[in-house]
Amino acid sequence: MDYKHLKFEKRNDGVMILKISRVEALNALNKSVLNELSYFFNSTMNDCSIRVVVLTGDGEKSFVAGADIKEMYNLNLSESVSFAKYGQKLLLSMYNYHAPIVAAVNGYALGGGFEMALCCDVIFASKNARFGFPEVTLGIIPGFGGTQVLRRLVGEKNAKYLILSGEIISAEDAYRMNILSKIYENQADLVAGAINYAEKIAKNSPKSVELAKRAINVSFDLSLERGLEYESSLFGVLFTTDDQKEGMRAFVEKRKAEFKGN
Ligand code: CAA
Repeated sequence: MDYKHLKFEKRNDGVMILKISRVEALNALNKSVLNELSYFFNSTMNDCSIRVVVLTGDGEKSFVAGADIKEMYNLNLSESVSFAKYGQKLLLSMYNYHAPIVAAVNGYALGGGFEMALCCDVIFASKNARFGFPEVTLGIIPGFGGTQVLRRLVGEKNAKYLILSGEIISAEDAYRMNILSKIYENQADLVAGAINYAEKIAKNSPKSVELAKRAINVSFDLSLERGLEYESSLFGVLFTTDDQKEGMRAFVEKRKAEFKGN
């Protein structure tokens, strides 16, 4: 794929920094950006050399300012349903990606951009970040999963508060709603903080990280009993790996473990 709107930095420790770059439109998701993201996440799914992804927006103003309104303007019924399903499929593939994705929200995360941040595993933001679902001000509703995912994260009342009003909130308010894990003073600190956090993940057993992410993801759909059953089966699977032997041997030998992902 000839990437026009994605910038990559793949480091030796397994940290992949991925930047969405369509600065002239505040990184809005047009078909081309969506195609590139879909291709990237599908073609690298289960690529063990990627242990964690840091996802951010290019420029100083925006993470992603939503789906491209100029491209959506003329869609008809079936085209708009297909468009929503395409975006949902991408975000689901990110949610189920083998490696954690850390969103470093460096400005606007609106509509589809907020939905994209929500499908990441951890969200950090800079002080100037802004979050919201302006869809109702455009005559539509969130279409890349916002109504379903936000409710699971912040509860019915807060989800309705945001989605029904279209209100755009500050990073501090998003933090208070439990959407964010950390706020940084500026963009440079944000990216450095997200990379620093990603480095911690990259040092861990990749299989442990992958299965822990999967166990938490499925917990939304399972009863506690079924979830516990699933957790114990994944716990058992990890005892068949070399990394479990290495991790526990390293503890006993008082040294740092070196995980190979096997
Ligand atoms: N789609 C297309 N173009 C966009 C865009 C979007 N979502 N957001 C910004 N742009 C473009 C603007 O049209 C403008 O382009 P031109 O210079 O060619 O006019 C450029 O980016 C810069 O934007 P502004 O001049 O508007 O910048 P600003 O600082 O004055 O305002 C903003 C920033 C408040 C984010 C404003 O751009 C804005 O409101 N953008 C739209 C946000 C939005 O409604 N997002 C939701 C989209 S719907 C959706 O995402 C549905 C879904 O669930 C999938």
